[in-house]
Amino acid sequence: MEITITKTKVLKPKPDDSKLGFGSIFTDHMLNVDYEPEKGWHNPRIEPYAPFEMDPATMVLHYGQAVFEGLKAYRTASGSVQLFRAKDNFTRLNQSSRSLCIPEIDEAFLMDSLKQLLEIEKDWIPKAPGTSLYVRPTIIATDPYLGVRASNTYRYFVILSPVGAYYAAGFNPVKIWVTKSHVRAVRGGVGEAKTPANYAASLYAGEQATKSGYAQVLWLDGVEQKYIEEVGSMNIFFVIDDEITTPMLNGSILPGITRNSVLALAKHWGMKVSERKITIDEVMQAHESGKLQEIFGSGTAAVISPVGEMKYGDKVITVSDGKVGPIANKLFKTIQDIQYGKAEDPMSWIE
Ligand code: COI
Repeated sequence: MEITITKTKVLKPKPDDSKLGFGSIFTDHMLNVDYEPEKGWHNPRIEPYAPFEMDPATMVLHYGQAVFEGLKAYRTASGSVQLFRAKDNFTRLNQSSRSLCIPEIDEAFLMDSLKQLLEIEKDWIPKAPGTSLYVRPTIIATDPYLGVRASNTYRYFVILSPVGAYYAAGFNPVKIWVTKSHVRAVRGGVGEAKTPANYAASLYAGEQATKSGYAQVLWLDGVEQKYIEEVGSMNIFFVIDDEITTPMLNGSILPGITRNSVLALAKHWGMKVSERKITIDEVMQAHESGKLQEIFGSGTAAVISPVGEMKYGDKVITVSDGKVGPIANKLFKTIQDIQYGKAEDPMSWIE
């Protein structure tokens, strides 16, 4: 598919790299592609970043039929631009689409069109340490229709946002709160898809946690509320004795790309790694017996988010003395060094 390019006449002022937060500044251009049953995915175009005009009955607004991705473009010390595991993001986008009855898009096209957009927007890729250009590919259902069914038409779009740290506090331990009154997802639902419903479902408990002084919710499984699933919008890891462990994928956990990178690096370093069922009781017992070394979240936005405190029922436990643990620290540094081209890329993750 040939991409039509229309450049903006007025460039926006660029932000100060050293003051970037997360996700509120957008670049000059975006990519748009449409889907109709007779034409398939067609009319790819890079054009000025602009609001959508939508019929108020547009299906995505009513029934949430949408999928998205999150990845980053990094500027290296030599000034070149690189992507981290972008192919995996596009493979996951199509996996999410299958769960949401959205037609798949050719992955080579997804990659090529992103590279063309990045070439046009390369001056927006920030240079300050820890900053990057966050890429948000999204697909939305566009039929104007109020019956409940899969849409016939869709829009794929990509927007770009120069970002700094996801948490204002940066790479510092967060406090998490275990909830038994809410669940994020259930087996057989859409928990493993990157779809807005999962994030909407997380908001209420997230607000409860914030009101109690906690940054994130630790989610338990939706059936027995016994097994740990995720933390906030991230995957979760525990270091118990000499084992790094994370909940095994079960249909209601997002197959995180940073999660996969943590597992691969830890194995590469010769550490004992497992993906298995982990109960909240096991973690509390590991803490009591002094075996719980670290807890941390993993995700594209924050990379690694160490946990310093966890509240479960009326018990509050301190993890890693409330500091950043050594394994979280090594993973954060190594993944970032690979992303910014400062370290070897043993798994060929850079594109
Ligand atoms: C991540 O990258 O960790 C997330 O899933 C958060 C994102 C939706 C902002």
